[in-house]
Order: sequence, then C-alpha cells, then structure tokens
Amino acid sequence: KMIKKAVLPVAGLGTRFLPASKATPKEMLPIIDKPLVQYAVEEAINAGINEIIFITSPEKNSIKNHFDKNEEIESRLIKSGKDDMVKKLNPDIFSNITFYYVNQETQNGLGDAILHAESIIKNEDFAVLLPDDLFFSKRSCLSQLIDIYNEKKSSVIAVNKIDKENIHKYGVIKPGKVSDVFINVQDIVEKPSYKDAPSDIAVCGRYVLTSSIFNHLKATDFDKNGEIQLTDAIRSLIKDEEVLACLYKGEKFDCGSKKGFVHATIALALRDESISEDIKKIIKDII
Ligand code: UTP
Repeated sequence: KMIKKAVLPVAGLGTRFLPASKATPKEMLPIIDKPLVQYAVEEAINAGINEIIFITSPEKNSIKNHFDKNEEIESRLIKSGKDDMVKKLNPDIFSNITFYYVNQETQNGLGDAILHAESIIKNEDFAVLLPDDLFFSKRSCLSQLIDIYNEKKSSVIAVNKIDKENIHKYGVIKPGKVSDVFINVQDIVEKPSYKDAPSDIAVCGRYVLTSSIFNHLKATDFDKNGEIQLTDAIRSLIKDEEVLACLYKGEKFDCGSKKGFVHATIALALRDESISEDIKKIIKDII
C-alpha cells in the first residue's frame, strides 16, 4: 500500500481574506510569485503523489486554469525568446499528474469536503493537504507523515506545539504513548477552550488517512455551526483503529490568517536572492 492520491480542499469561502477573496480564491493569492495552492501541490508531488483531487466550487475556475497546461502562452514565450519562463508557466513536474476537480456545492465544512473525494479514492489510503498551511523543511511535512505511514499503515496527522493562549483556534490531541518518531493519539477535540484543551499539541494542515475515514465521516453529525468536522470523524476513527501524530519538524506559516500570510511573505522575500538585499534595506528604512 502506497500513498498515491492527495485531496486538497479549496472550497472554503476565505472570509478572513475579504475583499481579496471575493473574486480570487484565497488559495490563488501568491506568496511572492507563486500561489499558495501551488506550494501544496509541489509538496504532494515531491512526496510521491500522482493523483490530486481538488474539492472546489464552481466559481473557482482559476485553480483549474492554473494547473492546466497553457500551450498558447508557452509558444508566445518561446517566440519572444523567453524560454526560461516556460518552466515557470508549465512546470515539468505537473506533466505526469492527474488533476481532478470535484465541486462541493455547499460549504458544509472540511469533513464534508473530504467526503466528496470518496468516489475517486474508493478504498485507498490517501493524503490531505490544506493549502492555507505552508510548511518548509528539509524533508517535507507530508513526506514525514508518509514515512510513518509506510512503517505503521495507520492514519498519521501532522501536529505542532502551540502557545496555550492560541489553542482554542485548532484541533488538539490528547497524547498517549510517545516514541521518538510518533505520538499515539488517544483523543482529539476541535477548538477546545483554554481550560478544556487536553494538551498544547495542535493539528496542522497535513494528514495521511486510511480509507475507513469515509465511513466515519458519513456517520458524523453537523456541529453547532452546521459543519461536518474532520476532527470529529478522526475522533470516531480512533475508537476502531490506531491513529498516530507526527510532531512536524520544520517551519509552518498559517497563511489563512493575515498575520501568517504577511509573515510568510517577508520570510520568503528575505530568502529570494533576486530581492533579499533590497527587501532588507526596505525593512530597515521602514523601522
Ligand atoms: P478554513 O476554515 O481555514 O478556510 O478551512 P475558509 O473557510 O476558506 O476560511 P475562513 O475561515 O472563511 O477565512 C480549511 C480548509 O478547508 C477548506 C478551505 O478551503 C481550507 O483549505 N474547506 C473548508 C472546504 O473545502 N470546504 C468547506 O466547507 C470548508
């Protein structure tokens, strides 16, 4: 069993990014010159994924356009001698990937979004990447999860430690046995209050899930906000199967929030050799 399929839920309304997200999906907002969603797609492909299933909405056409090969602009670039730009326009790594687009008609939550992938995934185990979370590390976040999955064949979720005062914004695990490589998840709760949080270990946007999650998603009720929560389905999965967590080693930017988005932009600008010196000067001047 190998992880070859990944689900990227991109149907959310992106309300925290209005008005930018009114006509442009928030997943298409760029960090420097690359849309957020492309960072996640590249992470998936580099981890061995060859089928990518976007859970999207009909008005988010630009995501499909972005991953389709654009031969017209390619030939124009070649004619005008800008061959070096062709790799940016139509990256080679996309050529062997199958992209699927499934519409989620109503935004009924992350769990509902993932359930929409069942007809394509069927009974295979699969990865989930939330493009809002941007990860940077030598071995990518998804590859770290797949390493554990390959050994244990269990669901593995990425987690990181969070300041307790921010814990109410995340899914939080109750850790069981801890080894060097993974933590056994005893329980998981969505957005607990400070005092009810079972730990300071929060779920971040990468998962490897066994296909049995679909049955648990189907049995999950809507929460008080009318959403089907993936966290609730994982909570139910834990009763049947081992679920592991991987304390992610690397950097993480929460680009679903303005603060995280700007943080990622500054961090990446300072690493981009073509602009880093100028940006340093600009930041010094501003301060
Ligand atoms: P978020 O809650 O972070 O995204 O969902 P959002 O709802 O778009 O943003 P805000 O809170 O309104 O600002 C996490 C991920 O799940 C997807 C989102 O697109 C995002 O990638 N999602 C969420 C869906 O695909 N469908 C949903 O019904 C809800």
